[in-house]
Amino acid sequence: MQLVSPITAANMADHWNARAWKFDGTASHRRDASSWRAVFRAALGDESRDVVDLGSGTGACALLAAGLGHRTTAVDGSLEMLSHAKAAAIEAGIDIDFINKTMDEAALPSESADIVTLRNVLWTLENPQAALALARRILRPGGKLLLSDGLWFRHRVNDSRDQFGADLPFYNGLTEADARHLLADAGFGRVESWRHLMPGDPYGAVYDDPDTPITFFILTAIAPE
Ligand SMILES: C[S@@+](CC[C@H](N)C(=O)[O-])C[C@H]1O[C@@H](n2cnc3c(N)ncnc32)[C@H](O)[C@@H]1O
Repeated sequence: MQLVSPITAANMADHWNARAWKFDGTASHRRDASSWRAVFRAALGDESRDVVDLGSGTGACALLAAGLGHRTTAVDGSLEMLSHAKAAAIEAGIDIDFINKTMDEAALPSESADIVTLRNVLWTLENPQAALALARRILRPGGKLLLSDGLWFRHRVNDSRDQFGADLPFYNGLTEADARHLLADAGFGRVESWRHLMPGDPYGAVYDDPDTPITFFILTAIAPE
């Protein structure tokens, strides 16, 4: 199986370690907490399931899933990002299994999850397709992937090779069409969109043009039976 981040993993963890302290400050999951909760409830249901949140960061998705009663594991390569997630889980009295490893190192068992969440992670990855293959491997047959991401920049020069050691193919972000292609290539089907449950433009403007809202998608897709 191909690796998600064979070259960039250490630099990527350093990058997010440095950003962790300010990540939640103005995040949509803080400003729009009730809308994100409604999306998760509608998309994932509230019957208790095994959930793995890949690239959990400060834990937004893991906290939402666990708050809905799912048994939740959160995986992230950045110790600092996860330390914020752990503090938030303790404060909320929510039980989450935290794994401070990259997706490649985490050795997640095959067919062990009913739901995998991947929010705002694909754009950071050297090999996004490998992350979807990993999600498919750890999902039980018929399991559900929740995939969300957006187009964060319009004109940024892709200098990811200088910063991280290898090109990130979606350095400026992804469109819904990109995501649907990736999902189809990875063998996922029955794609559903939940974007309509998020009012307005929750992420605000792209980082290099104040007049252009960030377009984003929230999709679920089903692993083959
Ligand atoms: C933009 S943040 C998104 C965090 C969270 N999913 C959210 O929606 O708020 C991206 C996260 O992906 C993590 N990440 C990137 N590449 C990773 C990898 N190969 N393995 C594990 N985590 C990774 C980073 O450390 C960072 O915390």
